[in-house]
Amino acid sequence: MTDIKFLSFEGIDGCGKSTQAKFLVAHFMAKGQEVLRTREPGGSPGAEAIRGLLLTGDTDKWSAETELLLFTAARRDHLEKTIEPALAAGQMVICDRFADSTRVYQGATRGDLRTKVDQLHAAMIGREPDLTLIIDVDPKIALARGLARNSGEDRFEDFGLEFQEKLRIGFLKLTQEYPQRCRLVDGNRPAEAVFEDVLALAQS
Ligand code: TYD
Repeated sequence: MTDIKFLSFEGIDGCGKSTQAKFLVAHFMAKGQEVLRTREPGGSPGAEAIRGLLLTGDTDKWSAETELLLFTAARRDHLEKTIEPALAAGQMVICDRFADSTRVYQGATRGDLRTKVDQLHAAMIGREPDLTLIIDVDPKIALARGLARNSGEDRFEDFGLEFQEKLRIGFLKLTQEYPQRCRLVDGNRPAEAVFEDVLALAQS
């Protein structure tokens, strides 16, 4: 068992975090813990509708500023309708991406908007996960994986390799900014080996 109630996974596109989230949920459920697995953008009906707007279409469909507003709106709905009720009911919440994605994608990569990201976060979200596991993977491998999924939601993958390399640096910096909460996991290994580290961190 663990004291962690709210855990997020982060990383560049195609880093394998969704697989790790699935493994971790299965692990805790097998132990009899009530766990909710959710994701961003999305995780509530309103936020899933915003997801469709954000992840499809041309790269220039939205500016970084408009993206920041849409991701924050989606997060606020997700928090109100899904995350807070689950935590209040005593469930553990495991979330595929949360506010750190906005810090890195809109704050440091798509635009230089970190101050605005922080202001909106403080005004509208004001909550951090207890633990954030950042899965670190070689951007070349991750991009090939992400695009191979051919999900139709590739707007961010379509920004290309240089963009993913910049994102990776942004996520690495977060581990320095929030050393207690953000922990790095080497994702350049088979999923089972990565999960050993994920589990050790989630239980510590
Ligand atoms: P998704 O298909 O869920 O990708 P992944 O499996 O890699 O998580 O798409 C989410 C995309 O949205 C991903 O490219 C990251 C981006 N994103 C942001 O730019 N800002 C945010 O705040 C969030 C939550 C996601």
